[in-house]
Amino acid sequence: MKKFSILIAGGGSTFTPGIVLMLLDNLDKFPLRKLKLYDIDKERQDTIAGACEVILREKAPEIEFLATTDPEEAFTDVDFVMAHIRVGKYAMRELDEKIPLKYGVVGQETCGPGGIAYGMRSIGGVLELIDYMEKYSPDAWMLNYSNPAAIVAEATRRLRPHSKILNICDMPVAIEERMARILGLKSRKEMTVRYYGLNHFGWWTDIRDKEGNDLMPKLKEHVAKYGYVVNDGGDNQHVDASWQDTFLKARDVYALDPDTLPNTYLKYYFFPDEVVAHSNPDYTRANEVMDGREKFVFTECKKIIENQSTEGSALHIDEHASYIVDLARAIAYNTHERMLLIVENKGAISNFDPTAMVEIPCIVGSNGPEPLSIGEIPQFQKGLMEQQVSVEKLVVEAWITKSYQKLWQAITLSKTVPSAKVAKQILDDLIEANKGYWPELH
Ligand code: NAD
Ligand code: G6P
Ligand code: MN
Repeated sequence: MKKFSILIAGGGSTFTPGIVLMLLDNLDKFPLRKLKLYDIDKERQDTIAGACEVILREKAPEIEFLATTDPEEAFTDVDFVMAHIRVGKYAMRELDEKIPLKYGVVGQETCGPGGIAYGMRSIGGVLELIDYMEKYSPDAWMLNYSNPAAIVAEATRRLRPHSKILNICDMPVAIEERMARILGLKSRKEMTVRYYGLNHFGWWTDIRDKEGNDLMPKLKEHVAKYGYVVNDGGDNQHVDASWQDTFLKARDVYALDPDTLPNTYLKYYFFPDEVVAHSNPDYTRANEVMDGREKFVFTECKKIIENQSTEGSALHIDEHASYIVDLARAIAYNTHERMLLIVENKGAISNFDPTAMVEIPCIVGSNGPEPLSIGEIPQFQKGLMEQQVSVEKLVVEAWITKSYQKLWQAITLSKTVPSAKVAKQILDDLIEANKGYWPELH
């Protein structure tokens, strides 16, 4: 079996240790010869890297390990780049969430004005990674899950149309794991799903077992009562109380269209007033994550470094991230795995913009993804998606042309924003907060 060289871009991410442990747990399926971390924040990455070095020394000393902030060193001799950068880190996420809330508007990482602001920061960062990859390892593939994936995907479609980048999200994976639990199945892989939408904006239309039995009725019965709340299990990423609220809220989101099962993120578009009413403008999800996951991961990594041992470490394998290995294997071994990816529509949804980046099932092989045909979608979803995809396209247009006007239009068009006046107030605050991260708008 060929052994692969992986680069994790955004090496200082809170998700890096869980993903490294997951990769080591999957070496029989996906063998590695080299594992590298790359970040622009040396100090942050050094803590994560110091722990990863100990983990690798214990579990797989044969794998060459390196952490660097030098692009040439990082991107040379790489087969896959796993990209999970957060341009501006949690400090900027906090502002993305708090600025809209000041005006009574949803404050969220990837939805509404917060997601738009994050998009304006991410585009340049991800393009830079692509350019490094193409310069130093032109045959490599980038598996990108840096957010906001919808905007990043549209930007790369426009600006790097021939690049080998695959955009993927873990929310459908996490929800499908819950569905499997509801159905009493061992794994989501026992289900075959039909799904369509935009990233963080989609619906399941059909879910069957391998014999072809329809599993939707049983799932609908559960979701109508409990949303995606399950008693046992779920992944270990979406565990905080606020995530439980979101899984429960899927019950009300489902009520709007009982023909389908919804992505949890639709709550921000259907119930923005309730979301705002339940938000604390002084303590948002960014604060929860900084006080929770970030503190936990960095404390555990420091302990490992100090002890030069993982004994007693509470760091755990991020099992649900194994979808990334499935994707890499699909490319590496031509497995033709069926996966949800964010790809250009090109007629897959026949009554929708062919240039939209949509999230739909694809068959993935060595030559990339082959999207499945969806056909026509109903008026309700089509209307919602046309509005949202226009927001995403306008953001990318604003970034390319450095246009204040386009960005004001994008924020105004977001279903989470009540008026052009409020959109302008939020935009002006966001511009101030994002100095140095956004192109200068005129
Ligand atoms: P984090 O802040 O802990 O880590 C991000 C790292 O990226 C930081 O160490 C930062 O220094 C680094 N970084 C920032 N700009 C960079 C650049 N230009 N080049 C290289 N490195 C850069 O964030 P996190 O919470 O661990 O999340 C990481 C990313 O993964 C985010 O984009 C998040 O939204 C995304 N994510 C996506 C999914 C999905 O479903 N697609 C799931 C989970 C997380
Ligand atoms: C889900 C989404 C990701 C998002 C994450 C936020 O996994 O699919 O795109 O980044 O949730 O989680 P957090 O714990 O950082 O709020
Ligand atoms: Mn996602």
